[in-house]
Amino acid sequence: MDTLASGHLLALGAWGALVMVEGFVELGARDDDALRRAARTHFLLDVWIELPLLAAVLATGVALALRVPSWTALHSTKVAAGLVAVAANLYCVVIVMRRHATRDRVDALRRDSVRIRLVSPALGLPAAAIAAWIGFVHFLR
Ligand code: HEM
Repeated sequence: MDTLASGHLLALGAWGALVMVEGFVELGARDDDALRRAARTHFLLDVWIELPLLAAVLATGVALALRVPSWTALHSTKVAAGLVAVAANLYCVVIVMRRHATRDRVDALRRDSVRIRLVSPALGLPAAAIAAWIGFVHFLR
């Protein structure tokens, strides 16, 4: 495996680990005070760690795509699934930022927390699983 492919996997691994940490932060918050603390922690994680990792996944993915010699349907499906996973997480980052900005309003805090807990399992994780399955089974060498 060359440097670019290793970089793609390294960024994906770090991102996957971070998403698990964020899951614990979100699911561990049981009342409004804990939700407010989770809003702050998740915001800091997103701004300082997740956005740079998403940029790394995207940059290495695009660089890999640019050097694919012959494009197949598997490549298109893999890249589309990867892009949906990245887009779902970027949407989540926007909601995390909005929740942080309005965390003193209980109704907004609760509404955005529910949305954050839904987007990843409903959209981000299935798309990432498809991209990972195609990537590991068909493209890893
Ligand atoms: C959740 C997101 C993603 C996952 C789980 C994922 C997973 C993988 C894996 C396991 C590989 C094989 C190992 C390697 O070559 O490094 C791979 C390769 C690749 N990925 Fe991703 N990836 C994701 C996002 C993306 C994105 C957003 C793009 C494009 C913008 C992309 C484009 C590619 C390309 C072009 C390859 C190489 C295909 C080949 O070798 O012919 N990936 N990916």
